[in-house]
Amino acid sequence: MMKIDENSPATIYLHDYRSPAFLVEKIELDFDMHESATLVSSKIQFYLNPDREGRLEPLSLHGEALQLLAVAIDGEPLAAGEYVMTDEGLDIPVVPNRFVLEVKTQIDPVHNTSLEGLYLSNGNFCTQCEAQGFRKITYYPDRPDVLARFRVRVEADQRYPVLLSNGNLVEQGKLGNERHFAVWDDPFRKPSYLFALVAGDLVCLEDHYQTGSGRDVLLQIYVEARNQNYCEHAMRSLQQAMRWDEEVYGLEYDLNRYMIVAVDDFNMGAMENKGLNVFNSKYVLAHPDTATDSDYLGVESVIGHEYFHNWTGNRVTCRDWFQLSLKEGLTVFRDQQFSADLNSAAVKRIDDVRVLRQFQFPEDAGPMAHPVRPSSYVEINNFYTATVYNKGAEVIRMMATLLGRERFIAGVRLYLERYDGQAATCDDFVAVMEEAGKTDLSTFKRWYRQSGTPKIHFEQDYDPLARTFRLRVSQSCPATPGQPDKEPFLIPLAVGLLDESGNDLPLRLEGEPAAGDGTRVLELQESTQEYCFQDIPCRPVVSLLRGFSAPVQMTTVVDAEDLAFQLVHDSDPFNRWEAGQKLAVSELLRNYRELAPGRDFSLSPVFMEAWRRALADRSTDRSFLTQLLTLPSEQYLADQLDEFDPQQIHGVRMAAYRALVGANEDLLKERYAEAADPGRGYRLAPESVGRRALANFCLTQLLQLPSPEKIALGLVQYHEARNMTDRLAAFTALINTDIDERDELLDDFYRQWQAHPLLVDKWFSLQALAPREQTFAEVKRLLGHPKFNPANPNRVRSLLGAFAQNMLAFHQPDGSGYQLLRERILLLDQNNAQLSARLAGPFTRWQRLEPIRRQAMKKELEIMQKSRLSRDLYEIVNKSL
Ligand code: TRP
Ligand code: ZN
Repeated sequence: MMKIDENSPATIYLHDYRSPAFLVEKIELDFDMHESATLVSSKIQFYLNPDREGRLEPLSLHGEALQLLAVAIDGEPLAAGEYVMTDEGLDIPVVPNRFVLEVKTQIDPVHNTSLEGLYLSNGNFCTQCEAQGFRKITYYPDRPDVLARFRVRVEADQRYPVLLSNGNLVEQGKLGNERHFAVWDDPFRKPSYLFALVAGDLVCLEDHYQTGSGRDVLLQIYVEARNQNYCEHAMRSLQQAMRWDEEVYGLEYDLNRYMIVAVDDFNMGAMENKGLNVFNSKYVLAHPDTATDSDYLGVESVIGHEYFHNWTGNRVTCRDWFQLSLKEGLTVFRDQQFSADLNSAAVKRIDDVRVLRQFQFPEDAGPMAHPVRPSSYVEINNFYTATVYNKGAEVIRMMATLLGRERFIAGVRLYLERYDGQAATCDDFVAVMEEAGKTDLSTFKRWYRQSGTPKIHFEQDYDPLARTFRLRVSQSCPATPGQPDKEPFLIPLAVGLLDESGNDLPLRLEGEPAAGDGTRVLELQESTQEYCFQDIPCRPVVSLLRGFSAPVQMTTVVDAEDLAFQLVHDSDPFNRWEAGQKLAVSELLRNYRELAPGRDFSLSPVFMEAWRRALADRSTDRSFLTQLLTLPSEQYLADQLDEFDPQQIHGVRMAAYRALVGANEDLLKERYAEAADPGRGYRLAPESVGRRALANFCLTQLLQLPSPEKIALGLVQYHEARNMTDRLAAFTALINTDIDERDELLDDFYRQWQAHPLLVDKWFSLQALAPREQTFAEVKRLLGHPKFNPANPNRVRSLLGAFAQNMLAFHQPDGSGYQLLRERILLLDQNNAQLSARLAGPFTRWQRLEPIRRQAMKKELEIMQKSRLSRDLYEIVNKSL
């Protein structure tokens, strides 16, 4: 229950939405940059919103941590009684219908530790304004439905040679007093959250892009000088994203310059500010020597994501923050398609579903569960969630499935035309999709307002005489906070039927004249629906939810023989993988349940054989094979249980790998040798990525049962690797064991890579993730390491975030792991509330732990509840208890 007292922060409700009383024609900003006293002068042309005509409205401006120096209307300074300072900002009760407001404020970037508003990262100025950071820069209606033209003048001294803001550079020059300036003008109206400013000592990698219509766009990636050779991959990814959006959606970039700035201190991945993206350097820098394949893919997808926001987010933005998924769900869907087109589509889909299951499903089953379009929040920063982003992308994907690709793309284009330059809602988007798809999506819209992961159950019945196959499908959705009862969802169920040789049968439902393809999409919209397939010659194996066509959980237990059959034959690669995962889940959970002293761990012959067969398969793509061979994550296994013991979950998964490795050593060695580095230079082609993935999977598993020979194999790869993917894989596998060389290896890696913050992050996080008894003690020691910097979110996540994922180290039976995290969260909360609230995520799952740990974790939440908390952390703690 939420405890309400007079000090508790207020809840904001969607149903309280009111349009802004005043709109902004234009804002001119002037920044006089100084580390601890930056002067911000603004000149804002306001006019009364036409929907309020004839009414007397006060002007309300947001402002936070600002020092107000002067305020004037139409050139007249306001007297003390003419404006009111409020908790939220500044109110001017009486204003004309149209006026120019001039405000001067002073801010203190060097002491801004929240990484929101204007702050310094490694001595360079940068901004982060989403969601509500602009109010830490100046007084303004800081809400996304107020769109304005921005003109920005920045002045700084010579230590900051690079001065950037949104749009076009219109003027720059030197001033007498060792200072210089630049003036930027953004021709596109935008909300304040898309404003950006950078002033620093940066170098720039430049390239060009020719748009389909023949315009030249200047592309610039700004980084600190030490990073200048690490930007090529980001640049190529940007060019690929620009081409892709033209080819797939017909969308061209709209300015003559696109800038990206990389900073080390950033709360999230990156930010889509108009014409001037600011990125966490983790998603810009990449070089074969320092970045792994998954780092490369991360850069590609985040570069794509922010670029795609230029249309889905910037040209059309959100009316209010409840509509966040309007831009984020759609843009994640677009970046997923982009990566799928550039790499292996099947592997990309599997990865996306893994992420959904790892982060979104638990969120949807816990105390922070909320719909894709939430209806209330305390702190909006807490709603940049897997639900809004990843489930939001699934909701878009379902519409694409229901409409078909062409109509879907036509719908997106129509939406962008209709709402260009405006702030829209999720309802607006769906209405356009209904129009473009000539279909009724009113039931479908429940996906936006109902939280919780629907469960699907099915029953089958084959009639050999009538040659019919009946499928009865039911859905239900568990209660979630504030939502005890749910209405049925419209669920697109992609289904196929396999004959006895594994081929897809043509599908014809009762009443249909002719059979269609091997996969068809059923539209389940009742609690229970029955489908009767005709002319089915033999009992088929049913392949349901192909491509994971809806974000649901299948609860029906399928026969192991059928799963093994699907694993080999299903024409849908996702369902081949899924069949393997289901087999593995049932094997591992059976062992978990039967776990008792003196009882042996055992895997069934069907499962052992299926796994061996996959390992021996030389005809399947190696990336995909690696996915097939990887057991479900500890988190996913734990989520299948009503309550779980973390150490036993870990133990069962480990034991399964050891059993599989013990029985397949020779084959693992063979496949390792076949796939190991052929000596060519580093290439990012899917074939090369697959080669490294399988080789490193085999090496990792072989080292589950170390021997001198296998350790030597690992050491050779560690020392001789020609890229970080191979080096880090060997390093990880080795430091997860207790071998004598372990400490030496840790020192060696640190000595070699200490100048690279992103690799120091990995060094911290791999130690925190090591499944070893000693890890808890080592994490405590690493907190005192000179390179552990609590002000840097990447570093904090690499140590504390990783630690909290470690089933052995974090979940100490006496609760000391929880205590350590709680202490650190409370310290961090003073400086960076966004970060502390995110780190508290693992505490939201306390109710699913076994009783002893449950009490221990709850105790830490209660301690937090009694402390002085930021609004961010307050919401997480109070909703959890
Ligand atoms: N809009 C950003 C994205 O998804 C997210 C983001 C970046 C953000 N920085 C933030 C959200 C800070 C909240 C706070 O690409
Ligand atoms: Zn985004």
